[in-house]
Amino acid sequence: MKTYLVTGGAGFIGSNFIHYMLKKYNDIKIINLDKLTYAGNLENLKDVEKDSRYSFVQGDICDKQIVEQIFTNNNVDYVVNFAAESHVDRSIKEPEVFAMTNVLGTVNLLNVAKNFWQEREGFKEGKKFLHVSTDEVYGSLGETGYFMETTPIDPHSPYSSSKAGSDLMVKAYADTYKMPVNITRCSNNYGPFQFPEKLIPLLINNCLNKKALPVYGDGMNIRDWLYVEDHCKAIDMVINNGRLGEVYNVGGHNERTNIHIVKTVIAYINENVDSEVTENLIKYVEDRKGHDRRYGIDPTKIKEELGWEPETPYEEGIKKTIKWYLDNQDWMKNVTSGQYQNYYTSMYGSK
Ligand code: NAD
Ligand code: DAU
Repeated sequence: MKTYLVTGGAGFIGSNFIHYMLKKYNDIKIINLDKLTYAGNLENLKDVEKDSRYSFVQGDICDKQIVEQIFTNNNVDYVVNFAAESHVDRSIKEPEVFAMTNVLGTVNLLNVAKNFWQEREGFKEGKKFLHVSTDEVYGSLGETGYFMETTPIDPHSPYSSSKAGSDLMVKAYADTYKMPVNITRCSNNYGPFQFPEKLIPLLINNCLNKKALPVYGDGMNIRDWLYVEDHCKAIDMVINNGRLGEVYNVGGHNERTNIHIVKTVIAYINENVDSEVTENLIKYVEDRKGHDRRYGIDPTKIKEELGWEPETPYEEGIKKTIKWYLDNQDWMKNVTSGQYQNYYTSMYGSK
């Protein structure tokens, strides 16, 4: 019986991960520590809230006392650190909270885990700290080449810099204390439960409300899209079989320009929902400051060492995703209303 402390489990990828793990394993226990910021939503976990293997603690990963309490009350085997401020646009407006949660929060988790796991000689058997990171720490690619685990870190936004800072602290705990850690660096995820400030759910939401579809710059920036369940599977594999201290890149060789994504969403909604939704909704707007041009992951290491490969082709994943948002319009309304609405409109009121 393994006990997982999952941080940020009420967010997009964290909630998908909790669903994935509870479906896959009978004999696990998951404690979800989440602050419930605007991006964290317990509705994402409604169907597991009564599962005896799952429990929720509302709290901040920066709070030493609360993290220590979890370790005192539970024999935590794995920390899976999803908790973060995750949106690049917000990081440009308010970098401080990104440094606080992403860097200091991660250090706090590392420190408590180290204190509970460290023995006279080394660390207790079977423990691991898995830090969920991003391909954005590598910066931006030109027209050719891919990010490899050996690519130097070169972040540009306050978000990616804070993630790079946290990655380096994880590395420091491995190098200095020999703490058992892994870092995963994944490309852009899409799928159910993604907060509609991110490109794909924002497009769907705006199409359904016949609002303009904001395309930053020339729309030719490239992202490497991966269906969220494939990311969850990779994390599970790295927890179980990843070599200690290693970084694993996760991506599905699925590069698309932003304008291609926009046109795909429009075409689906035009065909299946509302023929009045057309490319006339596209609105080219001012570019994101410091906008990275292209991301592309080389996933050879995780494929060769752990046998991971993405299972969901993009054409299937994007249809499944749009359909999920169409079937869950109440979810969309709920997460963008109430306290979320204030934050959302203050940032995105003009879109
Ligand atoms: P998200 O914004 O949807 O969710 C983040 C969660 O963390 C929320 O539930 C929020 O309430 C919680 N949180 C924020 N600050 C906290 C704090 N101080 N203490 C406790 N909880 C806090 O993010 P996501 O898209 O699910 O991303 C999860 C992780 O994966 C992040 O670390 C992100 O950097 C990384 N990642 C994301 C992507 C992507 O495409 N979304 C790709 C690669 C890596
Ligand atoms: O690459 C992994 C990263 O992917 C994660 O680490 C981040 O947490 C996650 O937010 C995501 O970052 P991006 O900045 O790539 O995602 P976003 O959905 O914000 O934007 C995707 C692309 O679409 C990007 O080039 C900016 C563009 N865009 C975005 C929005 C919200 C638009 O053109 N219009 C928009 O309204």
